[in-house]
Amino acid sequence: MSEQLLVLQGPNLNLLGSREPETYGTTTLTQIQSGLDSLASDLGVVLHHFQANGEGALIDRIHLAMDQGLDGIVFNPGGYTHTSVALRDALVGVAIPFVEVHLSNVHARESFRHRSLLAPVAVGQVCGFGAFSYTLGLQALVQELRAGG
Ligand code: DQA
Repeated sequence: MSEQLLVLQGPNLNLLGSREPETYGTTTLTQIQSGLDSLASDLGVVLHHFQANGEGALIDRIHLAMDQGLDGIVFNPGGYTHTSVALRDALVGVAIPFVEVHLSNVHARESFRHRSLLAPVAVGQVCGFGAFSYTLGLQALVQELRAGG
């Protein structure tokens, strides 16, 4: 049976395409989602997409992923990466493997972006490749799940 994965997008990522294009590029969130859908069909997995600007909505969606029995999460937590104990607790609580993804290279930016509260409990982190970070993150997560990781 195909793995089912959640592609979760945090605050301000609904603005992709117009938001700080010099940092995040000009690809819109809809374009990223449809690119991932084609990759998913090649890989034989099914994606569920969700974006929210609030921490509570993201946490509720993570809980729902557990109820739905989803197999993994590709997550760009946006600014919550650097601040959210509650999102980390939710991810640990549902025990669903996830990959943390960022368009920008957070380690080459302001020092407050260098720390991720989520990366230590993630399978891994991909950052710095623009929209291609999501492609890499999805491929890596599927490979990890299939390797039994
Ligand atoms: C981001 C990096 C975060 O530091 C920032 O707050 C974002 C986007 C990225 O994809 O590069 O909102 O997650």
